[in-house]
Amino acid sequence: MTATLLDGRALAARIEGSLRSEVDTFVTMFHRRPRLVVVLVGDLAASGSYVKSKASAADRVGIDSDVVRVPATATTDELVSLVASIARDEHGPADGILVQLPLPERVDTVAVLDAVPPDRDVDGFHPENAGLLSQGRPRFVPCTAAGVQRMLIDAGIETAGRHAVIVGRSDIVGKPLALLLASRGPGGDATVTICHSRSADLAGVTRQADILVAAVGRPRLVTADMVKPGSAVIDVGINRIVGPDGTAKLVGDVDFDAVREVAGWISPVPGGVGPLTVAMLLANTLLAAELRSSRR
Ligand code: GUN
Repeated sequence: MTATLLDGRALAARIEGSLRSEVDTFVTMFHRRPRLVVVLVGDLAASGSYVKSKASAADRVGIDSDVVRVPATATTDELVSLVASIARDEHGPADGILVQLPLPERVDTVAVLDAVPPDRDVDGFHPENAGLLSQGRPRFVPCTAAGVQRMLIDAGIETAGRHAVIVGRSDIVGKPLALLLASRGPGGDATVTICHSRSADLAGVTRQADILVAAVGRPRLVTADMVKPGSAVIDVGINRIVGPDGTAKLVGDVDFDAVREVAGWISPVPGGVGPLTVAMLLANTLLAAELRSSRR
């Protein structure tokens, strides 16, 4: 059996199409465009390219965006002050504020992220937004987790009563996705297991998964023997590796070529979850603008 491909690019393009008309409606009502401000610290090539794709996607749907670049030598205090100044709209109106991760190791990432006001936190990382999600009243849901759930819903993959196994317990993906899949309603009602680096018999657990999500950042960690035949395998990993011919390529956390012969559905890397993360960010930015404008 060869798995059905979950085409994240095509779905993201459809989501962008509807966002474009929702943004048009917003502009008609409020006579301004939603605006996203991204903070990019240092010159990591991967972060630069993600930020570029976020800015061009924003442009496609009619959301204004700006990137504030900061040298890698910036201190925690400087970054906290910068985020506070963005939140005072000193870099132009900022409906959504996003601090691109990872930050340099010496920086206190939590302190910087906590400086983003919860009502502009389009990444959904602030404790207030994490708390709202955990209580089943989500506001800004972390974009990758929201994208994975959207992918499952769109493909008609049943989650209710199914066993979803998530490999990875990060605050950005694993934990929020576990909450989403266990929540009530469409794309939810699953029985959820979170696995991590200390889990015993990882393969034994993943083989029980009707839905298997790999989100650890370990190239090709999930091999064919770890996958239940016919299951849905969602690959969140984006790993840059150098192949035997010396050229760099992107691979996921799933051994795609082997797993596609076992799974019922599989998301590729690139072109799977990545574009959906960006689409969900745009949706969160529009939501932030709507919340702000309707409060005025
Ligand atoms: N770096 C990798 N993924 C993400 C994300 O979802 N948000 C931010 N801000 N940085 C990231």
